[in-house]
Amino acid sequence: MADATAHGTGAEGPGTEGSGASPAPEGLSRRGLLGLFGAGAAGAVVGAAGGAGVAMAATGALGGAEASAAAYDFHGVHQAGITTPAQDRLHFAAFDVSDTLDRTGLVELLTDWTDAAARLTQGLEVEDGGAVGGSDVAPPADTGEALGLPAAGLTITFGFGPTLFTDAAGVDRFGLAARRPPALEALPRFQGDALKPEWTGGDLCVQACADDPQVAVHAIRNLSRIAFGRASLRWSQLGFGRTSSTSTAQSTPRNLFGFKDGTANVKAEEREALAEHVWVDDGDEPAWLAGGSYLVARKIRMVIESWDRVQLGEQERLVGRTKGEGAPLSGGTESTAPDFEAEGATGAPLIPTDAHVRLAHASANGGVRMLRRGYNFVDGNDELGRLDAGLFFLSFQRSPEQFVTVQRSLAADALNEYLKHVGSAIFAVPGGIRPGEHVGQALFT
Ligand code: HEM
Repeated sequence: MADATAHGTGAEGPGTEGSGASPAPEGLSRRGLLGLFGAGAAGAVVGAAGGAGVAMAATGALGGAEASAAAYDFHGVHQAGITTPAQDRLHFAAFDVSDTLDRTGLVELLTDWTDAAARLTQGLEVEDGGAVGGSDVAPPADTGEALGLPAAGLTITFGFGPTLFTDAAGVDRFGLAARRPPALEALPRFQGDALKPEWTGGDLCVQACADDPQVAVHAIRNLSRIAFGRASLRWSQLGFGRTSSTSTAQSTPRNLFGFKDGTANVKAEEREALAEHVWVDDGDEPAWLAGGSYLVARKIRMVIESWDRVQLGEQERLVGRTKGEGAPLSGGTESTAPDFEAEGATGAPLIPTDAHVRLAHASANGGVRMLRRGYNFVDGNDELGRLDAGLFFLSFQRSPEQFVTVQRSLAADALNEYLKHVGSAIFAVPGGIRPGEHVGQALFT
């Protein structure tokens, strides 16, 4: 399946993450082009690669079959899956590394994961002929459920949890303790936290995002399989319906409260804001994390049944924006900046003092922002017939302190009556991977 590797290497390609706004056609694999336009048309499309249709497909800004043809570069300055236009589906997994693994074994695991991820993100099997081309008397090297499917915009993003550096018993299993980023520690307890150990923590994480759930699940399943005996799944989460936009080319989706989510997000096109709020800088500590970020995951259950009995006007006051347009209650359209000073006829602020957007806004948090990349989830229902649903919140920031500041501010959030934080994890996300390297290589050298 070598035909699927014809993705570009242009510096402005989507895989370089934050390298620019241009939705480069280089991000499309040949296999993707074949899937999108049919084999006969592909040559013509490549020739007209500047065309808007191709460019939009590469950004994932189109839906359905067109979006699923996109393939993003795996290698780049930053890992893909952060400023990449948020795909529609998620499979997120946290792993614990086996106590029997040593430092060499950990590096081998990261190398095997990197090699597999570089192929999977281009719509390839874990190995050529992996699913059905091998020996009849050996298990296949690829589980096969993605055979015939395009890359579907798959990105695979790796992170290292605090316990990789020093485990819960304080043991430095891999000789990494001295290289732990000082800021990488378990998040403090927040007011209202109802965290369950089964959705909390992890030595390693893998975020797989795609426009096809089968492709995202295939990625996590095969990486778990590759890790067999070396690392095991601690917890994982499926997500559907992105709850943020990470590019101005994308429309704003809605969360399960029915509100537009991601309006005021840090977007891929805001290069200065990304440098200030998302990417660990060359001058930051530690140097091995330069070009990386910190990932916070929070599994937030929504008390859907209570929410659904709240009056529309009250829902809007809790959020601080209108439900239809997503405009701030101070007026204007979705893109209008909120005016927190604006008052109504009675002298009360139009955006209430305990509204979510007021308390989450940079102006309430010393200028702090973050890049949100969460997903809706529904994990069936509980024994009382209530939907087990909510928002799997994911954010990327230059320092964990940014999340801590905003989450502390949200202690007064009126939305909290309808929310319960049940899972939590933090990971250092190394910078981009160069060909021939494994993820986080600078940590081990
Ligand atoms: C289930 C829980 C949550 C829901 C339903 C929710 C919903 C929303 C909505 C509807 C908006 C307005 C649209 C937008 O700008 O994106 C918003 C904004 C925002 N939220 Fe949340 N959110 C949740 C949790 C969180 C958490 C845990 C954080 C961070 C600790 C957070 C941080 C933000 C930020 C920074 C903004 C942008 C505020 C601004 O600059 O105007 N949210 N959220």
